[in-house]
Amino acid sequence: MSQKPKLWISRALFPEWIDPVREWADVDAAAEERAYSPEELKRKLAGVDAAMVGLSDRIGADEVAGNTRLKVIANLGVGYNNLDIPALTAAGIVASNTPEVLNESVADYAWALMLAAARRVAESDRFVRRGGWKGSAFTAWLGPDVHGKTLGILGMGRIGRAIARRAAGFSMNVVYHNRSRLKPELEQEVAARYVDKQELMRASDFLILIVPLTPESHHAIGGAELALMKPEAILVNVARGGIVDELALVEALHAKRLAGAALDVFEGEPKVRDELLAFDNVVLSPHIASASAETRRAMALLAIENVKAVLGLGEHAGHPPT
Ligand code: DGY
Repeated sequence: MSQKPKLWISRALFPEWIDPVREWADVDAAAEERAYSPEELKRKLAGVDAAMVGLSDRIGADEVAGNTRLKVIANLGVGYNNLDIPALTAAGIVASNTPEVLNESVADYAWALMLAAARRVAESDRFVRRGGWKGSAFTAWLGPDVHGKTLGILGMGRIGRAIARRAAGFSMNVVYHNRSRLKPELEQEVAARYVDKQELMRASDFLILIVPLTPESHHAIGGAELALMKPEAILVNVARGGIVDELALVEALHAKRLAGAALDVFEGEPKVRDELLAFDNVVLSPHIASASAETRRAMALLAIENVKAVLGLGEHAGHPPT
């Protein structure tokens, strides 16, 4: 290419990550975070060779219609349900994601949410801040122990296994369900027992969801599944909001058929249902499971490498979605 390729970056990244890119690309980088309408996305994508986008940028056939220049869309995330891969492929556009680099940070965060929900960290923080703490209360603020309990994991990919490995330090019994069972050596490595989905729901004291959102996994946790759970169980979702039927979850929480939940992702995010906001036993966070300083940098740099690889400027092959 005689001229530098044009790269649009939809998310606000640190200049020190982007500045080196300017040596080989003509960069249009968002200065601040915001939502883009489908028309804006289409306009931005027209006339660039490459784009780096975030999970809230939904891109499909309409957004790339008539676009003959765009070669690569690098998603800043491992999940890529925001991209219509068949439509992009049909348009001759390569999509990439950021696997591996976020496994440990997302696993850390799943544990943070599980511990916070069990031991009522967010709720007690609110209590102290509003001046509610007037004296000691020996039998107040009791939550269930985490150590020694059964941890269920729905989705045993790379992040699921990182979550499972941490359970050894808490003497937990780990059960999992996945589309396909792990090889025996991997099962042994993470000390997890394969069970069917119903058994997973029944056995788990804590259930962590970490499956990709696909038409098959949409509402994988609905009324029927929640009804199988122990009333003292806690549900943790660090996958995608659409995995859980939120109305069924609200119903189960109202009926006290579930002790609590910790949610990093929501069906209509960034909008969170008022019903969920009203529960003290639900911990909420704004889709930040991968948001450690080191990991977000690694994700951005990997996305940049992916763009370079597809444009033929990189040292190694790209990472098509895995
Ligand atoms: C991803 O990368 O898919 C995660 O949801 C980010 O937190």
